[in-house]
Amino acid sequence: MTLFENEAEQSLAQRLWALALDVQGRAHAPYSRFHVGAALVDDQGRTHAGCNVENAAYPQGVCAEAGAISAMVAAGGRHIRGLLVVGTGAQWVTPCGGCRQKIREFATPHTPVWVANNERIQARLTLGALLPHSFGPDHLSPPKDLA
Ligand code: THU
Repeated sequence: MTLFENEAEQSLAQRLWALALDVQGRAHAPYSRFHVGAALVDDQGRTHAGCNVENAAYPQGVCAEAGAISAMVAAGGRHIRGLLVVGTGAQWVTPCGGCRQKIREFATPHTPVWVANNERIQARLTLGALLPHSFGPDHLSPPKDLA
């Protein structure tokens, strides 16, 4: 499997990996004990990171990806150029279904989504592979000639 399409992408993914590992260490996951970190790069080249934040009222917990997306939006970013998720163990920790849709709002089918653990970057997927035939903002936007 190709992990990086070119050297620029490789250095970007490695930068995201370092950020995601750092924030993973601050996850609040006392219930699942499953610590996740996510980092993304926006359209201005800025990076944003998030970790999972669980809650005693279990459904109120939020995923790492959601935190990273909130940080991007709060900083004025509106497009995800690439995102990396760090989990624990050999099995790929891919974004959950809800997070795939949240990423979809700000990404394209070609946007790379890397999955990693603390040892290595394990895979390069794309949003289109994770969420094919998706519903998105374009379904709700008025036609350009009427905008
Ligand atoms: N989790 C994430 O933060 N991101 C993922 O991609 C998968 C799952 C979190 C949610 C919950 O706090 C814990 O991992 C176990 O599901």
